[in-house]
Amino acid sequence: MVPEYELLDIQGLDVSFRQEHRTTAHALRSVDLILSSGETHALVGESGSGKTVTATCIMGLLPTPPATVNRGQVFFKGKNLLSLSENEKRRLRGKEIGMIFQEPGKYLNPAYKIGEQIIETLMLHLKMNRSSAIKRALELLSLVGFNKNKRILNSYPHELSGGMKQRAMIAMAICCRPSLLIADEPTTALDVTLQLQILNLIHRLKDQFSIGVLFISHDLGVVKEIADKISVIYAGKIIESTTTNQLFENPRHPYTRLLMLSIPDATKRGSRLRSIPGAVPDAEHIPSGCSFHPRCPLAEPDCRKSIPPTKTYGDNHTAACFLIGKKWIDLST
Ligand SMILES: Nc1ncnc2c1ncn2[C@@H]1O[C@H](COP(=O)(O)OP(=O)(O)OP(=O)(O)O)[C@@H](O)[C@H]1O
Ligand SMILES: [Mg+2]
Repeated sequence: MVPEYELLDIQGLDVSFRQEHRTTAHALRSVDLILSSGETHALVGESGSGKTVTATCIMGLLPTPPATVNRGQVFFKGKNLLSLSENEKRRLRGKEIGMIFQEPGKYLNPAYKIGEQIIETLMLHLKMNRSSAIKRALELLSLVGFNKNKRILNSYPHELSGGMKQRAMIAMAICCRPSLLIADEPTTALDVTLQLQILNLIHRLKDQFSIGVLFISHDLGVVKEIADKISVIYAGKIIESTTTNQLFENPRHPYTRLLMLSIPDATKRGSRLRSIPGAVPDAEHIPSGCSFHPRCPLAEPDCRKSIPPTKTYGDNHTAACFLIGKKWIDLST
């Protein structure tokens, strides 16, 4: 049966930051993104491209001012999150929408034991009594891979290693069985082995509880392993979006193609890593026309004149570049 509405449906989200004596920063430029229940949709782009602003907007944590939502809507199960009151947003956060961050230290309160933080959330949102909440907290800590769950329950965040803190934060984020989990670079601070464990854990929990996951990363190589769909963001605009398979089989946008070339090849040890020359423009100084044109090896004079429209290619594959189908250069050399 087709659901009445998508789990998350972002339509034309346009956000600026306005600060005195500073040029307006146009952080999101008409972002569209759909995430269905039980699927992982990755939002990928380099630093400064607008990933965290998107996540904060969904969570209702965007500071307004300095931020202004110029246009657009963020529907969660058919309800526009942007029109909710602070109280309604607070009720959704932690209960229906969970979030994991790159820095667990910022999210876990250093003054409270891990157990207390989970127990309090359960009592507040699910109205559990204390003994049921303790039981559930212990189950959750086992679920995220802690054998000595009683010890973790009674530990302060500073007593845990980076990977353990990340697990504890995941336990908190999913404690009320949210239907949407937003993971903003959840593994960037971890070493490779731990990264893999945390990615597997998120993947397993997503399947087990049919959670929709918005997975934010700068690394296409990481998201290839876990995402069902990928949207590539550049200077606050989604420049390409489709299923993971289609994106890797037939990337359309030159930026996506260059990002793929910068994925380290595990089979070629010692091979030099390709990086894309230059950097994402800051949101105060977005170039005219196609914002990628100053870094694009394919760019033509017209690319700096107007913004390329987002077009659909085949099944649910969208991209915004004037040169798709007109000009193709092997970028790997
Ligand atoms: N409070 C703010 N005031 C002004 N500009 C801001 C503010 N927050 C974000 N921006 C700008 O919005 C743009 C997008 O920032 P964002 O934090 O979303 O990037 P990101 O993709 O999450 O990058 P990273 O990978 O480094 O986390 C950047 O140009 C940033 O400078
Ligand atoms: Mg960020």
